[in-house]
Amino acid sequence: MSSIIDEIRKEIPVLKETVYLDTATTGPFHRRIYEAARSAYDERFEKGMAFPAFMQWVEKADNARADIAKVLNALPEEIAYVKNASEGLNFAANIIPFVPGDNIVVPEMSFPSNAYAFLNLAQKGVEVRFAPCSEGQLSFEDLVSHVDDRTRAIALCHVVFSSGFRHDLSRIGEFCRERNILFSVDATQAIMALKIDVKECNIDMLSFSSYKWPCCPFGIGVFYCSAHLLEKSEPPHVGWFGMRDRYETGTLHYPLDLSLTAGRFEGGSPDFSGVFALEAAAKLYLELGAEWVEERILDLNEYLIEGMLKEDIRIMGPFPVENRSGILFALLPEDEKLSCSLEEHKVQVYLNHGKCRIATHYFNTRNDIDRLMGAIKDGLN
Ligand SMILES: Cc1ncc(COP(=O)(O)O)c(C=O)c1O
Repeated sequence: MSSIIDEIRKEIPVLKETVYLDTATTGPFHRRIYEAARSAYDERFEKGMAFPAFMQWVEKADNARADIAKVLNALPEEIAYVKNASEGLNFAANIIPFVPGDNIVVPEMSFPSNAYAFLNLAQKGVEVRFAPCSEGQLSFEDLVSHVDDRTRAIALCHVVFSSGFRHDLSRIGEFCRERNILFSVDATQAIMALKIDVKECNIDMLSFSSYKWPCCPFGIGVFYCSAHLLEKSEPPHVGWFGMRDRYETGTLHYPLDLSLTAGRFEGGSPDFSGVFALEAAAKLYLELGAEWVEERILDLNEYLIEGMLKEDIRIMGPFPVENRSGILFALLPEDEKLSCSLEEHKVQVYLNHGKCRIATHYFNTRNDIDRLMGAIKDGLN
């Protein structure tokens, strides 16, 4: 086991100097992911990009949907490339068939875009019902108590960015299916860290950005739209890339004949280098194995919780095991000395107003956590 980790760590240069525990902000590049993006730039820099090369990139980007879909247990046709999670969430908001007086249930403490995309529907007479969290958690029972016969959808973040709480997608998805309610998930803080099966969990729409746990560049994300919704869904904006026959441009008859795939949400050319990076990230994740990655992350999270409790440091939680993720919040005094100590020990976490967000990814080690604890102890003494 440790030899696999040693090999992986050699491929992530940031880890040479830094105890990197801030993937919940931005994941560090693995060489394979970096090279996938960079080689696209190099190719264009060195050779230019005449029409046949452009077409090869389009085909390569289309083929990349297969591995990306596998990560979710989706079909390649259900994958649309988007700029970021926020764009995907806006697509979700626009395709839910609301009529005035309907509502959508959204947990409090969601990432802001998972609220704004739906609050923006106020002009269509849609109410956003916020389900309150208590100490960063929201039980299934409390969440669904906000659902009534005018609820059209539940929209939540798989892992809550502001507490690390992981929702039980399977149970919520089953509830949604029984009630004929749509289910939208922002998977940004879970994708390629925790297993997600959109079919098993009855997820209708899922959005994510790729710069955190998949460790990809900015500007590339995915909007998954379940096949059963696709034909009924009207993209809020359209372009040539989203047409059934993209190359109709030769005739210029403009039939506005939308693709039957999730590609209908793609107005124009994607960020190709980002797509190639995301494909590399998906391949690496599938090679490592979803089970292995999740187990390792949860084991490190558990070790971190134990360390915090041993030092009498307050944390959010600990949540029940099934609601844990790669994120843990420690509640620390707002202290200049603590920030300096973390810096001196070269430990990178997210520290803001006394809240310390610690993200453990599969490439982290128990030694990283020991070094974090050492830096915290030095900073507090
Ligand atoms: C749950 C969640 N969704 C989305 C985002 C970021 O969204 P975007 O990529 O649209 O900027 C974050 C960033 O922290 C997040 O935690």
